[in-house]
Amino acid sequence: MTAPILSLKGVNKSFGPIDVLHDISLDLRAGEVLCLLGDNGAGKSTVIRLLSGVHQPSSGSIEIDGRPVKFASPREAADHGIATVHQFGGTFPLMSIGRSFFVGVEPTKGWGPFKIYDRKKANAIAVDAVQRLGITRITDGDRLVGGLSGGERQSLAIARAVHFGARVLILDEPTAALGVKQATHVLRIVNEAKRRGLAVIFITHQVMHAMAVGDHFAVLIRGAIAADFRKGDKTREEITDLMAGGASMATLESEIEGYMDSHNGHPPQQG
Ligand SMILES: Nc1ncnc2c1ncn2[C@@H]1O[C@H](COP(=O)(O)OP(=O)(O)OP(=O)(O)O)[C@@H](O)[C@H]1O
Ligand SMILES: [Mg+2]
Repeated sequence: MTAPILSLKGVNKSFGPIDVLHDISLDLRAGEVLCLLGDNGAGKSTVIRLLSGVHQPSSGSIEIDGRPVKFASPREAADHGIATVHQFGGTFPLMSIGRSFFVGVEPTKGWGPFKIYDRKKANAIAVDAVQRLGITRITDGDRLVGGLSGGERQSLAIARAVHFGARVLILDEPTAALGVKQATHVLRIVNEAKRRGLAVIFITHQVMHAMAVGDHFAVLIRGAIAADFRKGDKTREEITDLMAGGASMATLESEIEGYMDSHNGHPPQQG
């Protein structure tokens, strides 16, 4: 097996008194898709926010090519080749396709022509990049991102990451709001990104989507890694049980009752 591009080593994360992640260690390799699975609130997006520079670990380290790194901002993570498509958006509905493709790409990074925004050129590059990922319906870079379908928007974000040479592509539930056809398209693009040698982290609640693209699976339960296995090691049923959080309904019910006892009879709210 090749050396990991990106590693988490014994990472913990607390927000004040709340411990969200416990001793997370993970390796990510080029040309591989890591599926991060787990129930709501398990800590998946928090792992992603550490890797994308939104939050910093409370302890433990993140390594790129075996060297420890610290991301003080999302910008620094991006500069290390980590491209993240966050859960619930991250695109700009009122921007054109061409414009949004080049958002945040500074002229100092060798993009001379874009010091003065060259609309035609930006549109042509963006449309070409999206088409090369198989979204041939997008032909006009002046169209507003807000007018694209969910799948097209995800595809645009992925095309952008691939185009600007990301080494690591992180997708937090890219297929959650999509129909079958669009989800299939996003999964196909994930496989294409993998074929081009990117390391991909893919979060989903749908076991079939995970199994369609995953080479390596890590299951988070209450902020800790409960299982870490490779494609073919577990059946669909086993993965489904793990994704449901591993807790039996009985445990769950008694927890809810306990919560309600200590919260004036109110049930827990989904955050
Ligand atoms: N900034 C924060 N401050 C306090 N608690 C937080 C913060 N961010 C996340 N949490 C808590 O950490 C836990 C994990 O949240 P996270 O968003 O990582 O879950 P998730 O696995 O992505 O869930 P989902 O599948 O619903 O997206 C939750 O209990 C959440 O309330
Ligand atoms: Mg999440």
